[in-house]
This record gives sequence, structure tokens and C-alpha cells, in this order.
Amino acid sequence: MPLRSVVRPADTESPAAAASVDDCRLIELPRITDPRGNLTFVEGGVHLPFSIARAYYLYDVPGGAERGGHAHRALHQLLIAVAGSFEVVLDDGRRRRRVQLNRPYRGLLIGPMIWRELDGFSSGSVCLVLASQRYDEADYHRDYAAFVAEAG
Ligand code: TYD
Repeated sequence: MPLRSVVRPADTESPAAAASVDDCRLIELPRITDPRGNLTFVEGGVHLPFSIARAYYLYDVPGGAERGGHAHRALHQLLIAVAGSFEVVLDDGRRRRRVQLNRPYRGLLIGPMIWRELDGFSSGSVCLVLASQRYDEADYHRDYAAFVAEAG
């Protein structure tokens, strides 16, 4: 999967267009390295192709646990392993791919209509998610069969 540090604007007008796991891309974030500790920052619309309406994070994930298991109808997200590592299975209803996140300066961009499952959390890992919209349960696809029917 190629790394891109320059982002293209997200197509937020047509979330129903056929999404592909190939559209989920890794974004390299700025790094200010310093002997006192490194620093990475993210600005909505600059380092990722949407404005940030919400941030949330997963932490204290027990070994062997799985998160995700859903898709979003319109939401765009950037997932970052700000500590430790985990894996993301991406599924567009036709194909699956698995991506490992293990650097705090690298984010995985996931657009609408991509089913995602998160697993393989290392001890002490933290998954930070930056999202384009506030929480809305109506935006979720939580039933895989219904998701595949709509995605296909
Ligand atoms: P969910 O998105 O299913 O978690 P994950 O994808 O990480 O497995 O959310 C789990 C619960 O948390 C669910 O009851 C909804 C709630 N929640 C909020 O209230 N606000 C939020 O921003 C998020 C992401 C979840």
C-alpha cells in the first residue's frame, strides 16, 4: 500500500458510489523529531481530506479482543495507532485486505461503505480515530449481510 503525505479532498458528496478497499490509504503525518520526544500533529483539511468533527480512542483493549465490525454510510475516518499496534481488516463487500498500524505518525484513511474489523491489539495499544461527523448511530451498518447487499 503506497504512503501518501499529500491528501486529495474526500468525495463527501456521493457516499453511495461503489467504495473499494483500494481507496483506503495510509497517510504519513508530520513528525517533529526531538531528543526530548517526538511530536506529530494533524490538521483537518490539511493532513486529512475532511474537517475533524469528532475524536475518540480505544484503549485498555484486552488481548484477543476485536473491535469494529461495522461500516459507515457517510463517515470518513482516520485511524492511528498512537501507541502500540493493531490490525484492520477492510472489506468493500467484494474484497478484503488487512492493514497493520504500528506507527503514531501514520494514519489509515477509511471512507464510507467500507466494513472494518480491528484485531491483534498489542498490550497498551491506543487507537485514535478522527472522524468527519459527530456520532450518529443511523450512519452505521452493523449487519454484514445487509451491508454486502447495499455495497454490491
Ligand atoms: P462502536 O462504534 O460500535 O465501537 P467500535 O467500532 O470501536 O467497536 O461504539 C461502541 C459504543 O460506543 C456504542 O454503544 C456507541 C458508542 N459510541 C458513542 O457513543 N460515541 C462515539 O463517538 C462512538 C465511536 C461510539
